[in-house]
Amino acid sequence: MSVSPLLRLNETVSPRRFALNETFSVGWQSPSNIALVKYWGKKEGQLPATPSLSMTLDRAVTRTRVIVSFEASPKGLVSVNGDLFHPFLPKMRHLLHWMTHEIPVLAGVTLTATTENSFPHSTGIASSASGISAFALCLLTIACDILKAEMKQEDFMHIASYAARMGSGSACRSLYGGFSEWGKAQDIPGSSDEFAIPAASYVHPEMMLMKDAILVVSGDPKSLPSSMGHQSIDGHPFFNGRMKQAETNLHAALGALFANDFEKLGSIAECEALTLHALIMSANPGTLLMKPGTVGIIHRVREARKTGLPLFFTLDAGANVHVMYPAGEAVSVEAFIRSALQPLCENERVIFDCCGPGPARFNDTRPDL
Ligand code: PMV
Repeated sequence: MSVSPLLRLNETVSPRRFALNETFSVGWQSPSNIALVKYWGKKEGQLPATPSLSMTLDRAVTRTRVIVSFEASPKGLVSVNGDLFHPFLPKMRHLLHWMTHEIPVLAGVTLTATTENSFPHSTGIASSASGISAFALCLLTIACDILKAEMKQEDFMHIASYAARMGSGSACRSLYGGFSEWGKAQDIPGSSDEFAIPAASYVHPEMMLMKDAILVVSGDPKSLPSSMGHQSIDGHPFFNGRMKQAETNLHAALGALFANDFEKLGSIAECEALTLHALIMSANPGTLLMKPGTVGIIHRVREARKTGLPLFFTLDAGANVHVMYPAGEAVSVEAFIRSALQPLCENERVIFDCCGPGPARFNDTRPDL
């Protein structure tokens, strides 16, 4: 493993001095992402077993504001949205703990966070990628403010991606707009297991306009937490095959993005989604995450494609379906989604999203969306 880039921040010579009870706040909005080539399984040190490739979303975002205060006995992260037992606290504290180890000035702060997702609660959309990346950006900004560390935007996002990975693997891909790649892969310069890189140089401009309708088949919390899911790949009978397949699919998907080959990209994404579920179903113990609505939507998407509609599906580790289509075909595909797919969704919930520009810092005081 290489030296953590966070350590560089400590080299600053003149950190800011804060008076007791002095406060300031930072806020970041960060998006969720959907993987086209899946990260499933990890190695020691929160490193991925395989490389992955994702599209950053536009509307599905988390906005997080962190208030920093300096007290005689610093308390770390105290609350989220005023809740001392918020379900996100353990993951956020884990990230803070790890970052404090790398950047010791973070041990001197007391933090309270307010956070809000743009997507409605109980829609089953994984919020850890957006939530953890937003918090990593806030913590890094706080560290830079205290240490008066200045760096290029590119270096800042690189370090933020490295840090976000320690909180949630897929979060490290949310730091970049468009498409991101995470994981060391042959012939991809700069690729690394330790952070994601922007895949912009591989992506045709038309692909950057990709649409994604998130079909909420079930808003129930996931029955398989991803930490347990990643472990289930160890000793899995399909392990070796999966390692090869992910790298092959990554190269093929990047080739399709470059060539604006929507059909090819779709066939890889569908194969990856079904492989993810096959791995989950055939693990020991196995879990069936698809619901009847999931399967119904998959059949209808494939039938519609035979009639000439350009669309494909992908799945996260859950029952909900992402249907992706080119911006130029939005009118016909969205009419099909509303008439044929929406009735299969829980409370007819569909979130129309698209490829987005990545995180943004904000200065207003409320995290309203
Ligand atoms: O980042 P985690 O540990 O929540 O894992 C996410 C794994 C998948 O969402 C299923 C796939 C992926 O690459 O995002």
